[in-house]
Amino acid sequence: MAPIPIPTAIVTILLLSILAVTIGNPITSSDGSDAPTSPTPWPHQFHSQLYVNLTSTGKLQIDDLWYDWTRGRNLNLLQSQLGDRLYDVEWDNKTSFLFTKGENATCRTLVFPVGVLRPNWLDGATYLGRAWTGGIECHLWTKVEFVWYYEEVATGRPVRWDFFNGMSMHVMTFEVGAVLEDSEWQAPEYCFTESAKNGNAEIHNMPKGIEETVNIFDYLHFRKFSSI
Ligand SMILES: *[C@@H]1O[C@H](CO)[C@@H](O)[C@H](O)[C@H]1NC(C)=O
Ligand SMILES: *[C@@H]1O[C@H](CO)[C@@H](O)[C@H](O)[C@H]1NC(C)=O
Ligand SMILES: *[C@@H]1O[C@H](CO)[C@@H](O)[C@H](O)[C@H]1NC(C)=O
Repeated sequence: MAPIPIPTAIVTILLLSILAVTIGNPITSSDGSDAPTSPTPWPHQFHSQLYVNLTSTGKLQIDDLWYDWTRGRNLNLLQSQLGDRLYDVEWDNKTSFLFTKGENATCRTLVFPVGVLRPNWLDGATYLGRAWTGGIECHLWTKVEFVWYYEEVATGRPVRWDFFNGMSMHVMTFEVGAVLEDSEWQAPEYCFTESAKNGNAEIHNMPKGIEETVNIFDYLHFRKFSSI
């Protein structure tokens, strides 16, 4: 199959539309004076298990998110339902390794325009008031109509976030300070062959539908967006 294209045109269009939306919606609170000014920044290191509903296809994933701003790295360990287990290791130098392990191991190296999400990536979000999700009372925010973010009123912990395409991530655990051991971050040797390093090349057979699994376009947008 063809390598994942980097949709420069799409990103450009997205940025232009973000700009338009930002200008069209000045940062205001719809909920009066007791509205919090911005979402609680993420702790510099945490582990979270996310229940992910891709919605557009009805497919589900468990995402083990290991956020490690301190060491300039972020890992999404994506388990699709009865399917592949995909490592998405992102480094703050903008290189990402997407790989599977086992018999038909695959790897793809991607270079992103930006690095790991900053802890305060939600600064400047628009407050939409209180909302309940999963039986938890939350503050709800949106940022440039790209992401909707719920944080628990009582603790400031993230509870859920949704992307513009309907994909929703539900926070099941949130362990502040948890750090994944170094060996788990190491991309396997088959990520360092010439073909894997060459642009967005692939080696072996990247299983069909893997873009959907990692939702790479959303994620690319997400990360591009986070640098604004
Ligand atoms: C996934 O989201 C869609 C749209 O909100 C919903 O109809 C569906 O029930 C959800 N599936 C699961 C298993 O949560
Ligand atoms: C970024 O960092 C990772 C981990 O140290 C490394 O494997 C990768 O080669 C680096 N990429 C670049 C472009 O330096
Ligand atoms: C690996 O690929 C071979 C050949 O396509 C296939 O027969 C085998 O079932 C695959 N193994 C796994 C674990 O998917």
